Amino acid sequence: MNRTLVICKPDAVERGLIGEILTRFERRQLKIVAAELRVIDRELASQHYAEHAGKGFYEDLVSFIGRSPSLVFVVEGPEDTWKAVRSMMGATNPLDSAPGTIRGDFGIDLAENLIHGSDSAESAAREIGIFFPGLA
Ligand code: RTP
Ligand code: MG
Repeated sequence: MNRTLVICKPDAVERGLIGEILTRFERRQLKIVAAELRVIDRELASQHYAEHAGKGFYEDLVSFIGRSPSLVFVVEGPEDTWKAVRSMMGATNPLDSAPGTIRGDFGIDLAENLIHGSDSAESAAREIGIFFPGLA
């Protein structure tokens, strides 16, 4: 089996979209194997978004991700689960996200784009280790 890290960002939780988003993964026969509602503070955000440190949008990204709780979870599927999740999320900028994707159906703003998904098998392993270090 193969796993990836997903985050319903603060905007998704605030807007009451957790159920809608989890349902989409469940319908696709992807399994939720760990989940936690938590505030992603500056310390955690700096680990998770290390690749973006120093970029122009970094400060806004860190404050946004920590403004209220996120639902952090691990999704499991047969292979390359990160790819299945990324295609269901849609493009980073919701203006470019296809209808039928999570961002394309519910988002309109680049910063408040609802959901994070690991962008490679390596990122998935790294990010699961950050948020769920005890997960076997
Ligand atoms: P994420 O990591 O959150 O799943 O999003 P992503 O892979 O689709 O996009 P990424 O390039 O990793 O960027 C992380 C988040 O930063 C915000 N962003 N703002 N102003 C900008 O040019 C800009 N570029 C990226 C987005 O909210 C994106 O989700
Ligand atoms: Mg990313």
